[in-house]
Amino acid sequence: MKLQGRTAVVTGGTRGLGRAVAQALADEGAIVVAAARDMSPDPPDQGGRIVHVKADVTVPQSVASLMRTTHERYGGPHIVVANAGVSRPGPVSVLAAEDWDAVIGTNLTGVFHTVREAVPYLGQAGAGRVITVSSLLGRRAMPGAAAYCASKAAVERFTEVCALELAPRGITVNCLAPGFIQEGQGRALMANETLWSRLQGTMATGRPGTGDEVARAAVFLASTESSYVNGAVLPVDGGVRW
Ligand SMILES: NC(=O)c1ccc[n+]([C@@H]2O[C@H](COP(=O)([O-])OP(=O)(O)OC[C@H]3O[C@@H](n4cnc5c(N)ncnc54)[C@H](OP(=O)(O)O)[C@@H]3O)[C@@H](O)[C@H]2O)c1
Repeated sequence: MKLQGRTAVVTGGTRGLGRAVAQALADEGAIVVAAARDMSPDPPDQGGRIVHVKADVTVPQSVASLMRTTHERYGGPHIVVANAGVSRPGPVSVLAAEDWDAVIGTNLTGVFHTVREAVPYLGQAGAGRVITVSSLLGRRAMPGAAAYCASKAAVERFTEVCALELAPRGITVNCLAPGFIQEGQGRALMANETLWSRLQGTMATGRPGTGDEVARAAVFLASTESSYVNGAVLPVDGGVRW
């Protein structure tokens, strides 16, 4: 139980990778507040250590309320996983401005809101941990993914700046960069047979990852075992050759 006595907030913690991360943190003893916009129908119960709270990372007041509520009810937060993300594929020449705004607003500005609103609490907590979530596509270009690639590249640089700024407060800030994962948005990719057959050839392991494999990396970054890891972007992609 590496995270006993710690409280974690996981944005986008109700589905996909965020749900797997929330479960893994709870399994290590943390109380986890899993936040998302849609609570109807109620997300499946994940046991007493995970509570679901409605919040929208694109709205600063909503994120402020999420952090305040977490603090008042459970203490902390000591760990924040800025995981909420969306994808709106489409070639630049026809990509709708609203789609661009949705991706940047959630994946980048949403991460900014999440970190900014968490800092006062993380600073009090001692050994505060921030984990942002990028992607394999934060460092590689894929046609049709301009907004997504741009948002994830920016999250990686944002993470590195935060790591420098927040280290004096005892907070580490690191980023997970998952590859192709058979969970959440990764499932939609796998359903595209033409694209998936091409991508499969790029995976050194020859298989996509699982949500649990990403979640175990998150546990490492959330625990004291990563005390001297700061500003890192950790690929969790099994090795990709492309
Ligand atoms: N799955 C993969 O293969 C993969 C690979 C690399 C990186 N990633 C990254 O991993 C993260 C999770 O992806 P996923 O595949 O698990 O996606 P997912 O299954 O679509 O889940 C996304 C989660 O984010 C929440 N969310 C979306 N917009 C939000 C907002 N404005 N405010 C609060 N919550 C919001 C969703 O809940 P609501 O819609 O109810 O708000 C949901 O809980 C993303 O950042 C994604 O880019 C995923």
